[in-house]
This record gives sequence, C-alpha cells and structure tokens, in this order.
Amino acid sequence: MDNDEPQEPKQSNELRERALKRTPGGVHSNVRLAGSREFIRSAQGAWLYSVDGRDYVDYLLGQGPNFLGHAPRQVVDAVFRACRDGVIFGGQHELEVRAAELVCEAVGWADKIRFSMTGTEAVQAAFRLARAATGRTKIIRFEGHYHGWLDNVLLANRDGRWGTASKGQLPGHLDDFVLLPWNDLDLVADALARQGEEIAAVVMEPLMINAGVIEPKPGFLEGVRRLCDQYGIVLIFDEVISGFRLGIDGATGRYGVTPDLATYGKAIAGGFPVAALVGREDLMDRFGTGEVNHSGTFNSSVMATAAVVASVSSLIDDPPYERVAQHGKALMDGLLDIGTGYELPLRVAGLPQAFHVSFGDAEVTDYRTLQQLDLARYEKLASTLVDHGLWVAGRGVWYVSAAHGQRELDAALTRFDKALASWTSR
Ligand SMILES: Cc1ncc(COP(=O)(O)O)c(C=O)c1O
Repeated sequence: MDNDEPQEPKQSNELRERALKRTPGGVHSNVRLAGSREFIRSAQGAWLYSVDGRDYVDYLLGQGPNFLGHAPRQVVDAVFRACRDGVIFGGQHELEVRAAELVCEAVGWADKIRFSMTGTEAVQAAFRLARAATGRTKIIRFEGHYHGWLDNVLLANRDGRWGTASKGQLPGHLDDFVLLPWNDLDLVADALARQGEEIAAVVMEPLMINAGVIEPKPGFLEGVRRLCDQYGIVLIFDEVISGFRLGIDGATGRYGVTPDLATYGKAIAGGFPVAALVGREDLMDRFGTGEVNHSGTFNSSVMATAAVVASVSSLIDDPPYERVAQHGKALMDGLLDIGTGYELPLRVAGLPQAFHVSFGDAEVTDYRTLQQLDLARYEKLASTLVDHGLWVAGRGVWYVSAAHGQRELDAALTRFDKALASWTSR
C-alpha cells in the first residue's frame, strides 16, 4: 500500500458512522477518543492493517500488551487449544496453578499471586489488602502516575491543581490519598513525619511510564523502601506497564528494590486481558482466609491462564529483551537525528523498551518538570505521524515489541522523515 498519498478512508468512515449510532463516541474506552479514526482490519507482528488498505508500524501496541507483537503464534495457539476443553469452570484447574507458579518464579521475590482481568482491579485489590493489613486508610501516591480509571485513582491536573478527571466521579473518594510530586525523597519523609501512622501504603509506577517515561532518581526507591519499613507501610509497585517489558523481573529487577505488593498486566499475557497482584505471603494470605475479599467471575479463566503460561514461558525460553533494547536504541537515535536534520528541538528520552518523544529541553525528573516541555506541539505532530503510517499515541510514549526488527526500523525512520518533511513545510 502507499501511505504517501492518503486517500479518503471510506470504509473507516462508514464504520465510524455505524459505531457512533450504537457506541458513545464510537469507542469503548475513553482513552481512544483521542486516537486515530481509522478502523483496523488485522494485525500481525509489529504491523497494523486498516480496512482502507493502509498499514502502520505499531509503536502503541494496544497501549502496551502486545509486547510479543500482534497475535503471537505460540500464545494464540495455546489459548485456542486450551479453550477447546472449556473456557471457565467456576472451579480450579491445572493451568492456573502453572500460571501462578510461573509468574511468581519469574518475578523472583513474590510468594503468592491472584489474577484479575484488568490492572485497575489489581491495584484496587492491593489497596484493600494494604488497608486490611495495617488497619490504616490513607495511601501516598504521586503526580502523573496512572493507576486505573476508578473514582479513587483517576486524577486530572487543571491549571496546576489536581482533582477529579471526570464528571460523575465522587471527589470524596480521593480524600484518602496524599498526592506528592514524585522522585523527591525529602517530601515523602516529611509527609511520613507528619502522618506516617495513618498511611497504609505508598503506591507508584517504579519507572513512571505513563507521564514521560521518567526513571527514579538514584536512591529514591531505596529511600522509600526504608521509610515504608520504618513506618510499617506497605510498598506497592504498579508494574502494569513496566512488568515483563523492562525484563522478566520488570522494574523491580532493574532497580533492585523489592516492594511488598506489585501489580502486573499488559505484557504478562501477549495481548489477552489479564492482570495480577503478587506479593508477600503474609499479606496475600489474607485473601485466602476470606478476611479480605477479592473476587471476579472471569479471574484466572482458561483463556487468561493459557495466555500467561504461553507468554511468560516464551519470555523465559527465548528472551527478546536484548533485541527490543537494540531496536529501541536505534529508533531513539534515528528519530533524534532526523529531527535535528529538520532543525526541530525534538526530545527523545526514557528507555529503549518504552520511551517518550516531545519538543523542548528540560531536566525532567517528575510530572512538574515534564510540563516544561512542549507536549501540545508533539501531540499535533503525532497525528501527522499516524497519517504517515506510524501508529503512535499523542501523549508521546512509544512502546517497542519483540516483533520489531530491521524492516520495521527502516520503515519507521523513512515514514518519520516523510512526516517531518510534510509537517515542517506547512
Ligand atoms: C501503571 C498502570 N496501572 C494501572 C493501569 C490500569 O490497567 P487497566 O487499563 O488494565 O485497567 C494502567 C493502564 O494503562 C497502567 O499503566
């Protein structure tokens, strides 16, 4: 196909009209309201194919889950094979035992696991467990970190003030959270000196991917770990994106700091809807005694656990991490070079497995310093990139998968170059 001459996306327009009649906004997740209007016909490896005959090199990866590429054969086949003998039993089965063993062993430090369908649910289960274990209610969280879409975690920043992000959201549900800038150990220490005895948990993305792909400062995670121990607080790492993506042991392995509980999702199951809460036995066992409720009709279905077993086995048996890092590094360098060629102040930062593209120059260590960049300008560029066959998100985060190789790199850089040429000539 030729993405150079965008044609009227006729079939997408027709489908969108039909979708709008039955689906608010034509989408089933509000995150997609801001996305491309093109309808996807199929996806394979690192490529998306639209109903209008266009193809895209995919660096959005379904918002992260397609770490093994689209429709990874070994995962899809395993799921289909397993589901022929039943999909959901309302009882236990061997695959869920294998999935639990495999994930706990891969993660390394975790004793026990509970599966859920979404990262949002896994995070809520972690909060409930922490509150039950400590008898406290408040939770420290950080600006820019995303932990799901429910009332007690969804936040927006308007004119420098944080608050609810949606009409209909109960503001009171945010009252039990203490919101701090991230990456500043002194601020955490101060907050704990004031109200450490009220805090049940500290929760964070250990690598802040959702806003800017920002690494923790040296010593920050270790310091928070120490403070949590000092005040008897449960440390929760939300690894829904970083888990199985940065390495088999995620950000916990990369930075060498162990939480008490951690949530996983996305890359854990090759695109299938699965998330998990893992943690220390003394905490997790509260679910087992029944004193803390964690439920879900679809938790640990045959589909989910077959997908986990096949994905995690594949990540262990044929680790793609070096290849992903090489592709990511070459891509980051290539984007920067091309940007420089057009005299654009492009900024490409983060890790090769997940990085952030924007305009501007600033020492970015948290959400506040991230705002010194020209994020709105990149958001506009992102839609030009999509028009030129690069499937990327407006918020600047690019994900690399195990299916991205030299062909994808060449195509991505050529398309990026053409996109910048058309953008700068406007
Ligand atoms: C760090 C983090 N936690 C939690 C969630 C929520 O996961 P889900 O969308 O599966 O509910 C996300 C989703 O992007 C996430 O990035």
